Amino acid sequence: MAREVRNPRQAEAGMAPLALLLFLAAHGAAAGAAAGGPFRNLTTLRFDEGYAPLFGEGNVVPSADGRSVRLLLDRYTGSGFISSDLYSHGFFSAKIKLPSDYTAGIVVAFYMSNGDIFEKTHDELDFEFLGNVRGRPWKIQTNVYGNGSTSHGREERYHLPFDPTRDAHRYSILWTPDTIIFYIDDTPIREVRRSAAMGGDYPSKPMSLYATIWDGSNWATSGGRYKVNYKYGPFAAEFSELVLRGCRVDPVEMVPTAAARCAEEEAALLAADYAALTPERSAAMRQFRETEMTYSFCYDTLRYPVTFPDCDVVPAELERFKESGHLKFGTHRRRSRRRSRVPRSADPRHQAEM
Ligand SMILES: *[C@@H]1O[C@H](CO)[C@@H](O)[C@H](O)[C@H]1NC(C)=O
Ligand SMILES: *[C@@H]1O[C@H](CO)[C@@H](O)[C@H](O)[C@H]1NC(C)=O
Repeated sequence: MAREVRNPRQAEAGMAPLALLLFLAAHGAAAGAAAGGPFRNLTTLRFDEGYAPLFGEGNVVPSADGRSVRLLLDRYTGSGFISSDLYSHGFFSAKIKLPSDYTAGIVVAFYMSNGDIFEKTHDELDFEFLGNVRGRPWKIQTNVYGNGSTSHGREERYHLPFDPTRDAHRYSILWTPDTIIFYIDDTPIREVRRSAAMGGDYPSKPMSLYATIWDGSNWATSGGRYKVNYKYGPFAAEFSELVLRGCRVDPVEMVPTAAARCAEEEAALLAADYAALTPERSAAMRQFRETEMTYSFCYDTLRYPVTFPDCDVVPAELERFKESGHLKFGTHRRRSRRRSRVPRSADPRHQAEM
């Protein structure tokens, strides 16, 4: 860690004030900790310790030792599980291995939500994985909703720099009172900072963790052109090394009461290694976004003529996107090499409208 602060050029280029603060906090707390990624000391749970089936119970299949669980989608039903508790902020993570082969129309989601409790003013933080026709890669999107902001979603879409059906990879959501960080393995891929301008759009009420697999035939792949083909089923998404860390709250507990009671736990969360966007991690995040991001709500001026106050418009990113918010295919070195694997439209819902 000391190595990073001794490189002032890198520190200047990579650190914004909040990241610097978090970095210093974690640096103090983690001094002397072993070298390695941000997740070297996670406390993982057995399925029955923290979760319960949500729907399609017969298709929720824990392993014999209970340390992993498979969610199946067959022609009768998808399936899902939910955390047994609600959390006021925290760190939520799992290794996920996606179904392989022909997966058009399949949606796997790993997300936080309180939509069951707050119907009109719900909060949500999403990882969504969209299957594809054979030979074409899964796409992944993240989204953030706060206080029922469903009319103005904050979607981002990415390709993955690996095959998510071959091995399990870790997907994590850090949610603190001031920052949200989405991680894929050790790499932060998106940071959302709370600002006054964002107002209630920043998720603030306790949420549960959900994982689901379902048939999204009518929109998931090329605007519904490719349906789930059950000849290739059942489809299985495997979740392992499950992590739930946060302040557990009762759904009827008032938010201010929970906030007071959770202060200590939140301080510990902020001091965790993964809460620190070190210069190295910021650089890795920039690199991921430059090479893998295929859509951003921040660059979609057709849908949002006025850019959101929380958008950090990066000139190097901006020039790669069309006014639809989609990548300009063909102008990007790396993309042109891969073109045969890349569907023409990154966002099926947009394609349906075009
Ligand atoms: C790892 O986590 C355990 C349990 O949370 C904790 O007691 C221990 O001190 C941690 N070790 C390190 C090196 O952070
Ligand atoms: C959330 O939305 C409700 C209903 O629209 C509103 O009354 C409330 O003030 C909002 N809360 C925040 C924090 O913006």
